[in-house]
Amino acid sequence: MNPSKPAESFKGRLALITGASSGIGEAAAVRLAREGLRLILVARRREKLQSVAARVEAAGGQAHVIVADLTNETDRARVLASAQQMGAVEVLINNAGFGWYGYGSRMPVTLAREMLALNVGAAVDLSLSVLPQMVARGRGHIINVSSIAGNLPNQGIAMYAGTKSFLDSFTTALHRELRGTRVHASLIKPGPVRTAFFDYSEGETSGRRIPAERFAIGAEEVAERIWGLVCRPRRVVYVPRVLMLSQWVEPAVGWLIDRLGPLLLRRQPAYERVEERELSPQRTRRTQRRP
Ligand SMILES: NC(=O)c1ccc[n+]([C@@H]2O[C@H](COP(=O)([O-])OP(=O)(O)OC[C@H]3O[C@@H](n4cnc5c(N)ncnc54)[C@H](OP(=O)(O)O)[C@@H]3O)[C@@H](O)[C@H]2O)c1
Repeated sequence: MNPSKPAESFKGRLALITGASSGIGEAAAVRLAREGLRLILVARRREKLQSVAARVEAAGGQAHVIVADLTNETDRARVLASAQQMGAVEVLINNAGFGWYGYGSRMPVTLAREMLALNVGAAVDLSLSVLPQMVARGRGHIINVSSIAGNLPNQGIAMYAGTKSFLDSFTTALHRELRGTRVHASLIKPGPVRTAFFDYSEGETSGRRIPAERFAIGAEEVAERIWGLVCRPRRVVYVPRVLMLSQWVEPAVGWLIDRLGPLLLRRQPAYERVEERELSPQRTRRTQRRP
């Protein structure tokens, strides 16, 4: 897409947004709908997707809902096949993802696999599936929703930070490979955002609430920056901008985090209480159906 094109030129273009049933994905759907893009909204909860689709339509847009569990390869293939019937996907926003906070040694392996399948596997599958068509058409944009956590391999977020730093490397490399093709790959790296993310990062028996929620910004702010990226593709955007400093935290003070970080994790409330329950058969809140 030509960065200098006015917003008007995106009218009618097809955008696929994963994790569109709440939070950043929902806000991005409503924002893009206001600009006239046609949307494909993907997530597991049908009713939530339908209510987002109603918001999109109220904003003057069109939305097609696909209920899918993106940890599942068959569901991913179904999403791609349904999208294909609607035309060429020109904007792909890989946003579906979740976090978990606690000791890596206590994270249920099944949950870690699920996180890898969603935060990494779904984004890779969908990106590599739509890219050939984008390159052939000479038009398209993949936006991967990462996090500043990708720069901060800190205590408590071993898996989450790992999945986001994968996305960072993957997207940056694609961005470089795509130079000159008129197809773009971009990263959006928010700090804390006020969404259900924090609720679902607490496993029933083993996870804890991710700290930093008190610094959270609204999902609409992230959505606005996503729209900015659609209009003016760039390699990476931090939200808020000041968080670009996060890329220098590890090289500059990683040695200090080595010493103080473990204390911060140990000080988390309820650590002692959950410790015993963690040894019992593990069932996480995430593996139950979300409301
Ligand atoms: N909130 C933050 O502080 C923050 C900060 C930086 C980055 N991020 C990133 O932003 C992205 C969106 O998170 P959010 O904050 O908007 O949280 P959220 O409101 O919990 O949204 C997560 C979305 O992912 C979908 N999802 C979860 N599991 C799925 C699955 N197996 N298959 C398909 N869809 C699935 C959820 O829908 P269903 O439950 O209906 O499937 C929901 O629409 C994530 O990648 C997250 O890592 C968040």
